[in-house]
Formats: sequence, structure tokens, C-alpha cells
Amino acid sequence: MASLLVTGGAGFIGSNFVAHWTATHPEDRVTVLDLLTYAGNRANLDGMRAELVVGDIRDEALVAELVDSRDVDTLVHFAAESHVDRSIVGPDAFIETNVLGTHALLKVARKKWAGTGRPHRFHHVSTDEVYGTLGPNDPAFSEETPYAPNSPYSASKAASDHLVRAYHHTYGLHTTTSNCSNNYGPFHFPEKLIPLFIINALHGRNLPIYGDGMQVRDWLHVEDHCRGIAAVLKHGRVGETYNIGGGAELPNIRVIDTLCAAVDSAFAANPALAQRFPDAPAAKGLPTSTLKTFVADRPGHDRRYAIDCRKAMTELGYSPKHSFESGFAQTLGWYLDHESWWRGILDGSYLEWVETNYGNRQTAA
Ligand code: NAD
Ligand code: TYD
Repeated sequence: MASLLVTGGAGFIGSNFVAHWTATHPEDRVTVLDLLTYAGNRANLDGMRAELVVGDIRDEALVAELVDSRDVDTLVHFAAESHVDRSIVGPDAFIETNVLGTHALLKVARKKWAGTGRPHRFHHVSTDEVYGTLGPNDPAFSEETPYAPNSPYSASKAASDHLVRAYHHTYGLHTTTSNCSNNYGPFHFPEKLIPLFIINALHGRNLPIYGDGMQVRDWLHVEDHCRGIAAVLKHGRVGETYNIGGGAELPNIRVIDTLCAAVDSAFAANPALAQRFPDAPAAKGLPTSTLKTFVADRPGHDRRYAIDCRKAMTELGYSPKHSFESGFAQTLGWYLDHESWWRGILDGSYLEWVETNYGNRQTAA
């Protein structure tokens, strides 16, 4: 039996991971440490066999107490400020949480585990954005690609990756790191492209496409990501990093066109949707694509990300199960079936924040 401490487990990927792990390892103990920032949500853990402790990863005394009292042997670190746009508006929180927060966890892990002979693992969840941006014909990011972060978000994640590496090399801490591409799926906070655009489409609000919409991302269904992390925990070599991708490289405009067509089809197949969402163009017989609005580009916007995950495939037996089409259809279905989940978020401080910071999003470029 293992005892896991999952930081950020009330966020998007963390809560999907807790669902995956508790379903596949019912004998294990799972403790979630989450500050419940705007992105954290108690409801994401509803019905799961996991204990939620509300607290800050920077609180070393709390983390040390949790490791001792729960006899933790595996720390899976998701907690972060995770949205690039927010990092452009206010980078400080990213340094605080992603850099100093990760360092606080490493310090506790070193004290409790390094050199003690106790079996342990510190797994750090990171991003492909640390590798920077690719040209159209460049090979995909491998674990050997030099780091070249371009946003305050990716720079803070790169710093945390380096600290994890250093704690392995210097102190012998048993670390692993995974760098994944853009996730999507259930419980995705509606400030990121896919959930934001689904909810905007249902309300008849513009779909703000940054720049020319030809930026490319490699879309990874969150369940595949969770399977990948589990494979690293089981079979990953200590001190190594593994790239986890979805094998679904798509320009944003293709994702948005898929989304618009899928919303139209859902309304055509289910007349009750028009009553639930009367402001949606699809409720009025108009295509959802009429909401597409090209707006000013994000400053420093990375053009293309692509993941080469052959190392995870050959060493860990990882492979993504979802195609983008199947994964997106499941995701749209989830958002249509879980209106109360996202309404709970939209009714909070979120809308106020969007209004203050993204007022310009409705303006055509
Ligand atoms: P998220 O923003 O949905 O969730 C982050 C969680 O961390 C929230 O529950 C929040 O309350 C918690 N948190 C924030 N600061 C904290 C603190 N100081 N102490 C304790 N908890 C705190 O993020 P996500 O999309 O689930 O991302 C999880 C991890 O995966 C992050 O490290 C992110 O960098 C990485 N990642 C995400 C993606 C993606 O597409 N979403 C892609 C690559 C990597
Ligand atoms: P996002 O979901 O913020 O993830 P990331 O910045 O980590 O890749 O954005 C995905 C892509 O969609 C990215 O190229 C930016 C673009 N985008 C828009 O065009 N409009 C939007 O309103 C948002 C949120 C993102």
C-alpha cells in the first residue's frame, strides 16, 4: 500500500488524477493538499476516496506534518498557477507558487526522505511550454530539447523543473518529472481555450481567437495524461524526465471549427438544448461559427508545440487512447451534462476577473 500526497488535487488535472488513482489503486491512501485558489474546487473531488487538506504548498511545517502523519511515500506535485494569460497580467503569483512553492516541497522531501533509505518518490508535473516554440518543420520536443521558455508561466515552470533536477543530483532525492502538452477534458477551468469556448458558444458570447488562429498545440486528453503519470510512477527511472503527448497536433482554428460544428450537431440532435441555452446561435438556427472573432494576439504567443513521446512509449508502455475527435465529443458531452459545475464557477469572482483583465477580448484585432 502506498500513501500519496497530491498537491493541487482539487484543480483540473489533479482531480482527474485522484479519480484515476483511487479507481485503479483502491488500497492506497490519498491526501490532497490544495489552497483552493480561484482554480481549485472542492466539488472536483466529490465522491472520491481522498482526504482534502486546504493549505499552501509553501507552508513547509504543514507539508512536513502531512508527510509524517499520513506516512507519505509518494508526492505527486500538480499545484501551480497554470494560465499563460494570467502570467502576462501578473507574473508574481507564478514565481511565488511555481518556483518558491515547488522549492518548499523539495526542501521538506529532502529532509524527510533523501539519504534515509526510505522508499520514496517526488513526481513533478510540468509542461512542454518549457521548451519554447517550434517552427512549422522543426522536430517535436524531445527530452533532450534545450529549455527556452517564453512566458512568465513557462519560465516559472522551467525554474521548478531545474530545482527538481538539482535536488536529485545534489541530494539524491528520488525524483521524476513529466512534461506534457495541452490537456483537455472534464473539470477544465473555463478560462482555457476549450471550456471557455464551449461555455461562450452556449451563451452566444464571442469566441476570441488570438492573432490568426494558426498556432499549433498537441492536444492530450486528461485521462491519457493521468495514465501517463501513473506509468511514470510505476516504471519511470528515478532522476529522469518523460514527455507525455496526445499525438493530436492541431492549429487552434481547427479545434475551434470542430467545437463549433459539434455544438451545432448537439443542438440539432437534442431540441431541449435550445430551451436551456436560448442565447446560443444554435438555438436560433444559426451556426456557432458566427461567434468567431479574431482579436489582438497574446504577447509573446508561442507558435507551435509538439511532443515526441517515444521515450515514454518504449520505456513505460505509454500510449494515448483518445483521438481528438473522441476525446472532444466526450468533453462536450461532459460540459452539457455538468452545467451546475461550471455555473458554480461563473457565478463567482471569475466573471469579475475576466471583465477586469480581458475587457479587450471582445474587440476585433
Ligand atoms: P489548475 O490551475 O486547474 O489547478 C491548479 C491547482 O493548484 C488548483 O486546485 C489550485 O487551487 C492549486 N494551487 C495553486 N496554488 C497553490 C498553492 N500555493 N498551494 C496549494 N495548492 C495550490 O491547473 P491544471 O491545469 O490542473 O495543471 C496542473 C499542473 O499541470 C500544473 O503544474 C501545470 O503547470 C501542469 N500542466 C498543465 C497543462 C494543462 O494543459 N492544463 C499542461 C501542461 C502542464
Ligand atoms: P490555452 O488554453 O490558454 O493554453 P496554452 O496557452 O497553455 O497553450 O490556449 C490554447 C491556445 O488557444 C493558445 O494558442 C492560445 C489560444 N487562445 C485563444 O486563441 N483565445 C482564447 O481566448 C484563449 C484562452 C486561448
